[in-house]
Amino acid sequence: MRTQIVIIGGGPAGLLLSQTLHRSGIDSVVLERASRAHVLSRIRAGMLEWGSVQMLREAGVGERMDREGEVHDGSAVAWAGRGRFLVDVRKYAGRPMMMYGQTQLTEDLYAARDAMGGIVIDEAERVTPHAIDGQRPWVTYRKHDREHRIDCDFIAGCDGFHGVSRQSIPPAALRVFEKGYPFGWLGIMSRTPPLPQPTYCHHERGFALVSKRKAMLSRHYIQVDLDTDLADWPDERFWDELKLHLPADYAQQLVTGPSIEKSIAPLRSFVVEPMRYGRLFLVGDAAHIVPPTGAKGLNLAISDVHYLSRGLVAFYKKNDSSHLDRYSETALRRVWAASRFSWWLTGLLHRFPGQTAFDLRAQEAELDFIMSSESAMRAMCEQYAGLPFEPGCG
Ligand code: APR
Ligand code: PHB
Repeated sequence: MRTQIVIIGGGPAGLLLSQTLHRSGIDSVVLERASRAHVLSRIRAGMLEWGSVQMLREAGVGERMDREGEVHDGSAVAWAGRGRFLVDVRKYAGRPMMMYGQTQLTEDLYAARDAMGGIVIDEAERVTPHAIDGQRPWVTYRKHDREHRIDCDFIAGCDGFHGVSRQSIPPAALRVFEKGYPFGWLGIMSRTPPLPQPTYCHHERGFALVSKRKAMLSRHYIQVDLDTDLADWPDERFWDELKLHLPADYAQQLVTGPSIEKSIAPLRSFVVEPMRYGRLFLVGDAAHIVPPTGAKGLNLAISDVHYLSRGLVAFYKKNDSSHLDRYSETALRRVWAASRFSWWLTGLLHRFPGQTAFDLRAQEAELDFIMSSESAMRAMCEQYAGLPFEPGCG
């Protein structure tokens, strides 16, 4: 088989890339290791920057998002019994945000690929890129006990943090930047009415986030130690702990109920440079991970797809490879901006082991400063809203 682009990984990055390229007349094949049902069962964040919303609309996958997603002015931050303040991105950054679950978005992307006859091969085992440093790369995989080979012009590694793409690049050609955090998020989903606004809560007991998916679907998190065992967290314990982190009026309003999903995610910052080796491009979580504080992961995957698809369109339609050659540099600027922001917000809102009373007061003083200084608030809002995609990239 031959195609122009082999896309490894059928998560949001891989699917959106194939959808965007197809609409510009560029062929691709998506190779996904898991089953479609498995990909669609994953629960992830759901906060879209406006640039992401526009990109999804342009790709023809915005219809249900516009119908069911919730446009809002920003999220709130609550702390130390001081009530809460709104990170008003509409006011300070001039653009709102959209709450729409990544699970729903992935469903929409699969539906759009099916409607256009896009090729997405799931349960593809042992996907392996070959000859990525030459002009004619190819990818092999196994399915139903048969070996297959696809020849292509380029490979897009959209296979997440644990994928094969980044691992196919000689380690000496990559520089890795990494930061671990000494805690994780314990998250639950419940069919209960959500609180009015997504709210990040700073508290001396630790961080909490109340969020939602839709009218009767809430998503909440609390900070936990890395060695936490889910078995020690029955629903009642989770709700009791969450209430202790919330402002009093929220704690009173909170409606509790049985969880329909419960999991623990460690927090990590990770970036590799460059995001390209020969004819292999890294996209989304394959190249970078941010802690979920700030909800930048999905938005970065979407901006990577934006830059890479523009570069590929310029290459095929205008015989111009300059944008592809700048892909890594251009994408990394946004990646680093979001990595820095997510790291900062994580440090501002979480309780760290060994944190002293001084450290706690310093966090509170910074929150106080943001709340009372218009320029500090504006800086926070510009970053939470997401930096605009850079113009002139194709
Ligand atoms: N071969 C084929 N597919 C693979 C392989 C492999 N060796 N390894 C992983 N995959 C698949 C995974 O099964 C997954 O479906 O690649 C896909 C990667 O998808 P995601 O992990 O969702 O990554 P991405 O598409 O970059 O989306 C980024 O996901 O983790 C969140 O915060 C992140 O919201 C952001 C979004
Ligand atoms: C979520 O709704 O799951 C969510 C929202 C905001 C975040 C992270 C996760 O920063």
